[in-house]
Amino acid sequence: TGMITLDPGYVNTGSCESNITFIDGEKGILRYRGYPIEDVCDKTDFIETAYLVIYGRLPDQNEYDKFRDDIAEHSLPHKGLAKMFEAFPKDAHPMALLASVLPSMYAYYPYDENDPEQVDKAILRLLGKVPVLASWVYRKLRGWPLNYSNPDLSYAANFLNLTFSTPSNRFKLDPDIVKALDLLLILHADHEQNCSAASVRMVGSSQVNLYAAIAAGMCSLWGPLHGGANQKVLEMLDMIQRDGGDIDKYLELAKDKESGFRLMGFGHRVYKNFDPRAHIIKKHADRVLSKLGINDPLLNLAKKLEEAALNDPYFAERKLYPNVDFYSGIIYKAMGIPTEMFTVMFAIGRLPGWIAQWREMQRDPSLRIGRPRQVYQGETERELSSRVKNH
Ligand code: CMC
Repeated sequence: TGMITLDPGYVNTGSCESNITFIDGEKGILRYRGYPIEDVCDKTDFIETAYLVIYGRLPDQNEYDKFRDDIAEHSLPHKGLAKMFEAFPKDAHPMALLASVLPSMYAYYPYDENDPEQVDKAILRLLGKVPVLASWVYRKLRGWPLNYSNPDLSYAANFLNLTFSTPSNRFKLDPDIVKALDLLLILHADHEQNCSAASVRMVGSSQVNLYAAIAAGMCSLWGPLHGGANQKVLEMLDMIQRDGGDIDKYLELAKDKESGFRLMGFGHRVYKNFDPRAHIIKKHADRVLSKLGINDPLLNLAKKLEEAALNDPYFAERKLYPNVDFYSGIIYKAMGIPTEMFTVMFAIGRLPGWIAQWREMQRDPSLRIGRPRQVYQGETERELSSRVKNH
């Protein structure tokens, strides 16, 4: 059997070879398919990024138009999925709803794994329907009638319209808000072998269907150490603000391991210098808020907290910097997205990455089922004498 190497949290274990996303954690570099994240943000939209991440290259105009139209064509969720939502309590967490309907998609849209065209259709169905389902979660919270995709809108604009427009509210799309959401989605599109992508691969390695594998990614994302951090950041900022804005008190709490309190939105397994996504988001947070004429005290508080933490030896020694989740919530909030929906927003953005990771894995001839080993520490063999049954 040989020696088993223990690596809790997989800090040093490569689980796969991949061509999708490159990260240099020391230098703060992130590239999708070789393109620096800064350029991807400046020069593409989310549909183009999704195509790039999934299929490995930028689409030409015809491919782009077809991809966009195909996504729109497959965006109508079966009304059975809406019925599932009805069964949930009114105040259910949005991730509970979204993560539950995902594997059920296979019940409505089964496909043949051996037919690449059907697999591509399943991918389009995910990209088309997930934002609609996400908007339905919001509308269920409000008790609003459900909305349907508008194929003439961009991916980000469509989501905002799906979510916020009603027959009577004269909802208008603000181009700056659309651009900011597009950017946030692009920034979340992939991040190599993070907890949720690794979950998609692990679950997918059993050759379960794509929807079920993506559902596993969503469940993993929900946790506060991963995508759930964006909700926790805003709740933390709110709490500090309500408590009189005493930053030092909370820094001390975060440094005290006994307290159970961590600075949410800080730290990263791979980035040990800065998170390039946080840099980009921070710049945009200012722009979006000033454009909307919002003076959110939480943005100032976040900036002060960041500065204080960066000047504190505890955070410096451990190379803890703000991550992607630190400023994203402030922008989502300015857009009118409720705090409980933040992780759902992350999930919409991460969808192309999960799909790309799954697709790359399925096409890898060396694919084997994921099956880690363990170092057993339990009882050795012992004699059983039942205290209940005497033979
Ligand atoms: N606040 C206070 N101390 C921290 C924090 C934090 N946010 N993050 C790490 N540390 C300390 C930790 O206690 C440890 O200290 P010591 O060496 O004295 O034991 C040291 O820094 C190393 O931390 P770790 O927990 O071993 O690091 P990890 O790579 O296992 O975990 C992390 C990475 C992101 C889960 C962690 O930094 C964390 O919990 N951050 C807060 C949650 C968060 O913002 N998550 C979002 C991650 S980025 C995007 C995403 O995945 O969604």
